[in-house]
Amino acid sequence: MRIVLVGPPGAGKGTQAAYLAKNLAIPHISTGDLFRANISQGTPLGVEAKSYMDAGNLVPDSVTIGMAEDRMGQADAAEGFLLDGFPRNLGQAEALDAYLQGKGLKLDAVLDLEVPEDEVVKRIAGRRICRKDSSHVFHAEYNKPAAEGVCDVCGGELYQREDDHEDTVRKRLEVYHAETEPIIDFYRAQGLVSTISALGKVAEVTERAMSALGGDA
Ligand code: AP5
Ligand code: ZN
Repeated sequence: MRIVLVGPPGAGKGTQAAYLAKNLAIPHISTGDLFRANISQGTPLGVEAKSYMDAGNLVPDSVTIGMAEDRMGQADAAEGFLLDGFPRNLGQAEALDAYLQGKGLKLDAVLDLEVPEDEVVKRIAGRRICRKDSSHVFHAEYNKPAAEGVCDVCGGELYQREDDHEDTVRKRLEVYHAETEPIIDFYRAQGLVSTISALGKVAEVTERAMSALGGDA
């Protein structure tokens, strides 16, 4: 299956993607995690992406599309993938369609996670992520690690993301409404969108997501 996960910052895309990718046996491809890995390794791509990310802006398409295509072209993604955070504007959505068409492939579903803005703010304020792998995501109150400040998955140190401070979060929400939301209509016109509520326990949301995708959690 080839799936796109869409929703505002803090909706729980990364959290759900970890479970969905496991259930569906497809890789979780997060452009945010790819950028953060490049930043921690100090690559030129990471250096370029960091200034945009810290300001809450999108990294330019000229950088992002090539990086996403490289990742989708890897062997483990041949049978399908779960995209998280890509595409994020109409240009990227059109580029993805063209990329898949060129390979005789298409998307199967777009899962839209709906969550009110006050909940987003609470989720982001308490988010803690792993220094070793930013796809290991916790919450100081709602999704606590077994030992405070320590990643359950790999033992790495947990910290607060640089772009999770209040001003940047507000900017990211603005960018989401202006640039990312229009892709939902773009995909709705292709009959691909299922919208589910992302409120409730993590496992409840996973169940809703799996049933929207036509499977069992
Ligand atoms: P990215 O990393 O994609 O961030 P985002 O879209 O803003 O999404 P988040 O990671 O903030 O939230 P999420 O929905 O994954 O929520 P999570 O599961 O962590 O992008 C960051 C930046 O990179 C962008 O601003 C941009 O600069 C750049 N970028 C990335 N992709 C790009 C692209 N395609 N083009 C251009 N630029 C790009 O959950 C949030 C918190 O809530 C966690 O603490 C979690 O434990 C908790 N939580 C989750 N589910 C629940 C629940 N059900 N109940 C209670 N708490 C919950
Ligand atoms: Zn970890």
